[in-house]
Amino acid sequence: MESWKLLSTDGQELAIREFTEDDAPDALDLFEQMAGETDFLLYAEGDAKISVSEERKYIASMRESRNSLFALAEICGEPAGSAIVHGSRWPRTRHCGTVGIAVAQVFWGIGVASALMDYVTEWAMKTRFVSKLDLQVRTDNERAIRLYERKGFVIEGLLTRQMYIDGVYFDHYWMGLTLPDVVPLIPNGTNGKLPNFPGGRQGELF
Ligand SMILES: CC(C)(COP(=O)(O)OP(=O)(O)OC[C@H]1O[C@@H](n2cnc3c(N)ncnc32)[C@H](O)[C@@H]1OP(=O)(O)O)[C@@H](O)C(=O)NCCC(=O)NCCS
Repeated sequence: MESWKLLSTDGQELAIREFTEDDAPDALDLFEQMAGETDFLLYAEGDAKISVSEERKYIASMRESRNSLFALAEICGEPAGSAIVHGSRWPRTRHCGTVGIAVAQVFWGIGVASALMDYVTEWAMKTRFVSKLDLQVRTDNERAIRLYERKGFVIEGLLTRQMYIDGVYFDHYWMGLTLPDVVPLIPNGTNGKLPNFPGGRQGELF
């Protein structure tokens, strides 16, 4: 997906692009920073224990996958937030992508997550086969829920006891966004191959 150049709501340069392998050290720093700033993420500071070379491989695998996306938001060139979409490799579920978004606290409230979600949605539409996005969000994360609802996600379910922090369980909403059917549904029994549609690459595995 091509890069976007925008302005944040307070007028700063906001760029969104896919992570490249060379961003691996910045990606690890950004995730570590964000993990220490909120309890709403699945991991806490110090949990990740991922090396730079592992992160490079992860970024490479995300870039290769046609139904996954790993996007970086930068404010004036500084890493500010990220969006991840994980797509399934199985033919029956690979039209679905699970989204995760986080923004460094210093950049909250200036439209970074909003722009990241727009980028994710446009990317999904451009893939021409991702027709459903979903995500999980803690039921007490009002800020994130408001963002997702404004982008068209609806609450599809409640998952209890999804997070456990210092003796307290937290529930999650499962939220979903249905996108237009832009290609015929991939028929079952295609043995991992995509049908031949314009712009598609025959026989490709995810
Ligand atoms: C939730 C989060 C991603 C929002 O990122 P952000 O860049 O601050 O969000 P934006 O500035 O794009 O604002 C998007 C929406 O968030 C909500 N929001 C933003 N600032 C807010 C505030 N101060 N109070 C309440 N809601 C707020 C609003 O709905 C806003 O939309 P609006 O234009 O209608 O006001 C960010 O706070 C974050 O990373 N939090 C910690 C990690 C997290 O919770 N991730 C989501 C896990 S599911």
